[in-house]
Amino acid sequence: MSGFNPVTILDFEFRLSSFPLSGPILFVASSPVWHCSLVARRLLETSGDRHLIFLTRHREILPSDDPRIQTYYYDSTALSPSTLPAALLAILKNSGVKLALYAQTSADDIAYIEIARLLRELDVSECYAIDWNFILHSRDDLLRCQDPWRVGAHLVRTPALLAKKQLTYLYQLAKEGPGTGAVVEIGTWRGGSAIALALGCLDSGRPPVVTIDPVHQPDLETNLAQHGVRDVVRYYCMSSQEVAVNWSYFMRGHTAVRLLWIDGEHTYKSAAADTLHWRDYVEPGGMICYHDYGENFPGVVRAVYEHIILSGKFADFKRVGGLFSAMRVR
Ligand SMILES: C[S@@+](CC[C@H](N)C(=O)[O-])C[C@H]1O[C@@H](n2cnc3c(N)ncnc32)[C@H](O)[C@@H]1O
Repeated sequence: MSGFNPVTILDFEFRLSSFPLSGPILFVASSPVWHCSLVARRLLETSGDRHLIFLTRHREILPSDDPRIQTYYYDSTALSPSTLPAALLAILKNSGVKLALYAQTSADDIAYIEIARLLRELDVSECYAIDWNFILHSRDDLLRCQDPWRVGAHLVRTPALLAKKQLTYLYQLAKEGPGTGAVVEIGTWRGGSAIALALGCLDSGRPPVVTIDPVHQPDLETNLAQHGVRDVVRYYCMSSQEVAVNWSYFMRGHTAVRLLWIDGEHTYKSAAADTLHWRDYVEPGGMICYHDYGENFPGVVRAVYEHIILSGKFADFKRVGGLFSAMRVR
């Protein structure tokens, strides 16, 4: 819709039923539970008799007995066509959805990137995002977020699910950060943050980047090659825990990690397992960083608190938006 002015969905004049395009409306509920529940209630209240499809990671948010609702759950951190089960993707494709709403609370809009691919695949023609303050924004923002980004002197065209200042922080740590040993990334996705890390390593001639993800994204190798880092990045298509237990074998005994970047599954269980499997490969002087440290992912905050902050082994705690970093000191 051109010339769309942002509107708060809590405004008494807001009516979801008056939005153009026929067919059901897709609501992707990705923000925290309190936010999604209020948004969901408001959408139900204002949708008239239009059908709503809720795609959510929060099992507790919706009344299930309303005949206008179909609810589907997803579990992965990065929502995209390849992380949804094929059967669910087929249901969504056949649903005739033309209008989608997406609830997100990230100030830097990174979450738009993941939904954009899914919506293209579903052939959705109108998309709006609902922010912290329940304001509905047009998809112009969504398209803008796919712009290339810069680290050092490099222009990068691969999307990353991180804010630009976080990519710059990782690039600088890889380039001139403390410690000795490998740079390890848990959670490759399409290679965006791996490229930032690898360019930092290349620019300073420091050892290679290891990146780990059990889900291989089809454009990963092309993305790495396009940015000249194909030979600097070693990719393991395995879970981070599997690589950790074979780490000494893979690295021929050179197990030290100078920068550990954890951006895998963001549940408490997974963030804690990643931490406990990898923490001790980071030697004193090395850094550990986590993505999505904040109220959107309380499991990450808890894992960091219990296994980094309380461990007594780390200091220099710092935040760059939703990126947490610490230095190993003993
Ligand atoms: C938020 S995305 C990573 C984004 C990426 N760092 C970027 O450039 O923006 C999270 C990724 O973690 C992966 N993942 C999930 N569980 C994992 C595990 N146990 N080990 C490694 N990666 C995992 C998912 O497949 C997904 O691609």
